[in-house]
Amino acid sequence: MPDDPTDTTTPPNPVVTLPDGGRALLRPLTPADKPRVREAFRRLSRQSRYHRFFTPLEVLDGKLLDRLTSADGIDHVVWAALDPDHPDDPGMGASSFWRSRTDPSEAEFSITVADEHQGRGVGTLLLATLWLQARRLGIERFRLIALTENFPVIHWMESLGATIVCDDGATCDMILDLRDEARDRIPMTPEGDSLLAWLSHPFGPS
Ligand SMILES: CC(C)(COP(=O)(O)OP(=O)(O)OC[C@H]1O[C@@H](n2cnc3c(N)ncnc32)[C@H](O)[C@@H]1OP(=O)(O)O)[C@@H](O)C(=O)NCCC(=O)NCCS
Repeated sequence: MPDDPTDTTTPPNPVVTLPDGGRALLRPLTPADKPRVREAFRRLSRQSRYHRFFTPLEVLDGKLLDRLTSADGIDHVVWAALDPDHPDDPGMGASSFWRSRTDPSEAEFSITVADEHQGRGVGTLLLATLWLQARRLGIERFRLIALTENFPVIHWMESLGATIVCDDGATCDMILDLRDEARDRIPMTPEGDSLLAWLSHPFGPS
């Protein structure tokens, strides 16, 4: 893990060990990942699709797929967690944020973890990754919108101290404070330290 600030070599993408001993490789998504994202979506359960997109979407394609895979690294950042031990697997999860056009210190955050990988800490790693990148880019808050029935994500955000307002009966609006003192609330495995070190490299994440 390079510590020298004059070292401009881009470090390799981090591979992090999950609490259950599995491994996750973290890297930004690019337009070349469209087939992978389409396939990962196809394998998602109806419930996970509904929780992420709020509609019973059957196929992820067209403009929505373009939007999800066309990050600029500044106002729109998208990272995936991949299984380095099963390269043909389309992915363990992906997460993104879009900076608000009206308030550049806020970004809308979304995340999806493949059903078979949920509850293994993949979501936590993706959130930590995007959290640290958002802070570097001057973003202080993530906004998440979730269906009121989506207990896992609401419970998760509650445990991280998010402000949660559910007043339209259908969705909850959650604001997660990303300022430094809140950072410590992300539960990390010891191996997460290597991810943090990687992310703090000045030429690390793009
Ligand atoms: C929400 C989601 C991203 C969580 O990802 P994950 O990889 O399972 O999350 P982790 O294993 O890192 O767990 C993070 C927290 O989620 C909560 N959580 C995860 N699975 C849960 C479950 N089945 N029931 C209740 N809470 C759950 C827990 O609070 C957990 O924190 P803890 O480990 O400190 O208790 C995942 O369930 C998902 O993709 N759901 C479908 C899409 C979706 O709802 N996206 C959010 C809309 S923005």
